[in-house]
Amino acid sequence: MKEKIALVTGSSRGIGREIALGLADVVSAVAVHYKDNRKTAEAVVKEIREKKKLSASFRADLTKESEAIALIKRVEKKFKKLDILVNNFGPILIKSWEKIAPSEWDFILKGNLASALSCLKAVLPGMRKRKWGRIINLGYSRAEQLVAFPTITPYAIAKTGLLILTRTAAATEASEGITVNMVSPGLIEGGILPGKKNIPQRKLGKFRDVAEAVLFLISEEAHFITGTNLIVAGGWKI
Ligand SMILES: NC(=O)c1ccc[n+]([C@@H]2O[C@H](COP(=O)([O-])OP(=O)(O)OC[C@H]3O[C@@H](n4cnc5c(N)ncnc54)[C@H](OP(=O)(O)O)[C@@H]3O)[C@@H](O)[C@H]2O)c1
Repeated sequence: MKEKIALVTGSSRGIGREIALGLADVVSAVAVHYKDNRKTAEAVVKEIREKKKLSASFRADLTKESEAIALIKRVEKKFKKLDILVNNFGPILIKSWEKIAPSEWDFILKGNLASALSCLKAVLPGMRKRKWGRIINLGYSRAEQLVAFPTITPYAIAKTGLLILTRTAAATEASEGITVNMVSPGLIEGGILPGKKNIPQRKLGKFRDVAEAVLFLISEEAHFITGTNLIVAGGWKI
């Protein structure tokens, strides 16, 4: 992994930040992405550089396809290539489904699904050329459950769609040396979903628990694993 270059979307804070810091221990460069909080993104860059790895921050609104494509181009230009893409940005909205405004539906679907699709399509040409790539999409632990989700309807729809996209890209890119997998957190400390009382393990997950799953799936050892959905949820509603 020493020569590999990684990009984590939405890595100025939260789970994305933890994934970026975890990747910095194993790859040569990590691109940190943010939308508004340049200062927090720069703080992550500083932490990565302290690990003696290359890093830089990149701004983009990933709900806009043109900015997603430009982001990938800028990272590839800066670090000469891009081997690992972690589509981490994925906003949630907790609101009764019939009260959700069209603009809110649009934002949740674009933020979770279209943004990942745009980044994924943009990284494929370079990965195919080098016959090596790792793509991880961040899901949601219940994304495989086709049931009613009255308070997170567009989020659940988008994450289930993202899983189908994950498996589709995994199938078409398997012969290109590219793996595409999903890591699906459940209830995580610092997240906005409700408490831990229904979690069989009686504890919330930590950002690091999610990062560890990503680190496994991007490793050389995981080369034969593609199209999987790795649920990180302590047994919650499985
Ligand atoms: N946290 C949880 O409990 C939980 C549970 C299940 C699944 N997940 C999934 O795990 C992933 C990470 O979740 P998270 O809650 O840590 O973070 P998140 O809210 O999905 O992402 C925050 C990051 O996204 C950036 N961002 C905000 N608006 C953006 C936009 N329009 N375009 C591009 N980037 C934008 C933020 O940048 P700025 O700092 O500049 O605003 C920040 O870096 C998501 O896919 C989420 O659905 C999380």
